[in-house]
Amino acid sequence: MAKVNPHFLDIKREYIFPVIERKLEELKKERPDVEIINLGIGDVALPLVPSIVRAICDAVQEMGQQKTLRGYGPSEGYLFLKRAIAENEYSHLGIAPEEIFISDGINTDIVNILDLFEEDNTIGITDPTYPVYLDASIMSGRGKKLISLPCLLENGFTPRPPKEACDLIFLCSPQNPTGVALTHDQLKQWVDYAKKHQAILLYDNAYVAFVTSPSVPKSIYEIEGAKEVAIEFRSFSKTAGFTGLRCAYTVLPKSLTALMGEKKISLHPLWSKRQNTKSNGVSYPIQKGAEAAFSPEGVRETRAQIDTYLTQATTLRKGLEKLGHRCWGGVDAPYIWWETPNGLTSWEFFDLLLKQCHLISVPGSGFGKCGEGYVRLSAFTMAEKAQEALRRIEKL
Ligand SMILES: Cc1ncc(COP(=O)(O)O)c(C=O)c1O
Repeated sequence: MAKVNPHFLDIKREYIFPVIERKLEELKKERPDVEIINLGIGDVALPLVPSIVRAICDAVQEMGQQKTLRGYGPSEGYLFLKRAIAENEYSHLGIAPEEIFISDGINTDIVNILDLFEEDNTIGITDPTYPVYLDASIMSGRGKKLISLPCLLENGFTPRPPKEACDLIFLCSPQNPTGVALTHDQLKQWVDYAKKHQAILLYDNAYVAFVTSPSVPKSIYEIEGAKEVAIEFRSFSKTAGFTGLRCAYTVLPKSLTALMGEKKISLHPLWSKRQNTKSNGVSYPIQKGAEAAFSPEGVRETRAQIDTYLTQATTLRKGLEKLGHRCWGGVDAPYIWWETPNGLTSWEFFDLLLKQCHLISVPGSGFGKCGEGYVRLSAFTMAEKAQEALRRIEKL
């Protein structure tokens, strides 16, 4: 008889989004007259930019004609997109197109990257955390191998290298949910730690486009020696509004190695093998759309959208501070980490905001126990909504 992977049942985390959804539905039934402002969801609010829409439509037209028909593409992604990424994002860092692997999302790559590593590797995961790192690790049977990296007020919500040796470490910067980013010096400490312990940093850089502080690196490869110890994940989801289209990439330098018995071997051919066996890649029109994000028009249009979100982040952050609240993030990321007032729990404050302000946030405790006492606000919204949210919060 077929047996299930028991580790799927090891995930004990509270699933917050269905609970939020239920509470929202209840409020809508009770108060159909009120306008609810949703600052909970971390999804883009603005439509795809025209240059990307055009590129996708043109690519679909190409596929509809005999002469330009395209079937299966390369599993690792089309060279035109890898080249565009290498030239526009990594030319100063010496990353070659063949070190870039196109995929349908960071989530996919984060779950799959664990295929490359033995089950008994220890894994460092921040608390609070983007939940996929935790669930992917548990599902793959590593639930007992996790080392928590607390991100608390005391350490500025930035994870510090632990005393123990982790083999793999999931780092996210700018971070979801706290909206705080690691500086060059903080990231260097991680690179040094990884070198010392022969560990590998799994660096989720989904929010790179939101980085504004000069002290925050845009890529982990800005840190000397990182090409020997880090894999970087990036996505078009939040940088170009691709959450519904799906296109991302993983940078795996050829110089990155891990132990096979006593010997160090390169991970690049293994990831290539994995991708070629288990994936048939991302569709041609979507990759053409992603390429268009690097055209002068694409850069201008997508930049304007990111700036809009960053403006909302500033409005929310400064507005809350003016009202006497304590919050972090929102400078290099579209998220604000808001301390609950009067010692309320995350859920108590969530309920208060929902009932009295008709405002949706996300309880910080849903991202880990160190998230208790905070809620996350998202700046993926319009100026009127951010301002109206503040007016309602003022009346609390
Ligand atoms: C930190 C982080 N990584 C990855 C993702 C998902 O990226 P993708 O849409 O490329 O799967 C998200 C989405 O919210 C995220 O917040």
